[in-house]
Amino acid sequence: MSEIRDVSLAPAGEKKIRWAEAHMPVLKSICEDFEKTKPFAGLKVAVSVHLEAKTAYLACVFRAGGAEVYATGSNVLSTQDDIAAALFERGLNVFAWHGATEEEYTHHLACCLEVGPNIIIDDGGDLNQLIHKQFPELLPGVIGLCEETTTGIIRLKAMEKAGKLAFPVMLVNDAQMKHLFDNRYGTGQSVWNAIDKTTNLIAAGKQVVVAGYGWCGKGVAMRAKGLGARVIVTEVDPVKAIEAVMDGFTVMPMKEAAPLGDIFITVTGCKGVITMEHMLLMKEGAILTNAGHFNVEVDYAALEREAVSKETRRENIVGYTLKNGRSVNLIGEGRLVNLAAGDGHPVEIMDMSFAVQALSAEYLVRHKDESLPKINYVPAEIDEKIAERKLNFMGMQIDRLTDEQDLYLHSFDL
Ligand SMILES: NC(=O)c1ccc[n+]([C@@H]2O[C@H](COP(=O)([O-])OP(=O)(O)OC[C@H]3O[C@@H](n4cnc5c(N)ncnc54)[C@H](O)[C@@H]3O)[C@@H](O)[C@H]2O)c1
Repeated sequence: MSEIRDVSLAPAGEKKIRWAEAHMPVLKSICEDFEKTKPFAGLKVAVSVHLEAKTAYLACVFRAGGAEVYATGSNVLSTQDDIAAALFERGLNVFAWHGATEEEYTHHLACCLEVGPNIIIDDGGDLNQLIHKQFPELLPGVIGLCEETTTGIIRLKAMEKAGKLAFPVMLVNDAQMKHLFDNRYGTGQSVWNAIDKTTNLIAAGKQVVVAGYGWCGKGVAMRAKGLGARVIVTEVDPVKAIEAVMDGFTVMPMKEAAPLGDIFITVTGCKGVITMEHMLLMKEGAILTNAGHFNVEVDYAALEREAVSKETRRENIVGYTLKNGRSVNLIGEGRLVNLAAGDGHPVEIMDMSFAVQALSAEYLVRHKDESLPKINYVPAEIDEKIAERKLNFMGMQIDRLTDEQDLYLHSFDL
């Protein structure tokens, strides 16, 4: 049971998956554990995460753990057809193709839900929204859901507050072994890789504007600085704004930054961060890109609606001429640039993020009879287990507390 574009692409996808697997030692060790313990035996796992090599390997890890796996993408531009084909050849159920229409994308999500999944692996919350809205009869069969990203977590917390969340969820993004590395270093490096590959322009000497100084924004700004760019940060949170200032960046509102920037990167999880009003203030040829989850941070709809003309200037770059005669260049339709126009995070980063996913899903199954709360933070033991294995695979050791030190740190004198 699958819907993919072209099965003949499988050999190319297979090579990519093997490369990822070879550089994901923590996830591989978890896979070996799962092969022995089969925690997902008899269960159906639906996976909606950017469908590229690392995700494909995660899907295979669930299968090694005994699950029947139903996989789709979480963004129509990040799905790689060769990976979908390779997963199909490996015997998984895959519903996805690159460049799907909104209807096709929703249909593919629905295909993963119609089977009645017990565990859901979500990235941005699309599977979760759909199952609650369109398949309420399947909700009782869901043991729980693991959410990969900040935006999905915002949606889950809103649902829980409204009393609408039907099953327990694990906030994978909020695990230390996820956001400290994935959001900061993964996004930091892969966003610049994608901009570099797409534009073939230099960052050094340019004025870069980063909107949002959360975990992802910090990484993007840090790497921009390392590449020699001058960096302006825009924020709405005064604490984050001060943090950006102390880290050596200039902070100002987007309206003031708009005429100054050469490259703009939004990474807020919010909408309407760069509007037509801002774009009309920009220099000729300003480059606009988004690294946040949805393509609503740069007002793509307004560009499509109000630009005088548009033309493809390079693969994945569309130039829009505005009513003031100047033009702006938008990368990847304003979808998250590192996946829409790149291969996503470096493999070693996803080794840790997906290790959190795998162990969180196992945790849900292990505690399924204990009526877990609806919102669950990933337990510290999972973070520590992954960190220890990662250090080990990196060939590094750390000190251990002596009994005396342990006592010193955990006692008090009144
Ligand atoms: N591209 C990727 O690979 C990738 C990876 C991880 C997360 N994400 C996505 O990136 C986004 C940010 O994630 P994060 O973990 O950094 O979140 P975060 O909550 O740590 O940071 C977001 C920051 O944006 C700021 N912000 C919100 N609205 C703003 C606005 N209108 N203008 C300026 N700043 C604003 C917030 O104050 C906050 O500091 C989310 O959508 C997340 O899902 C993308």
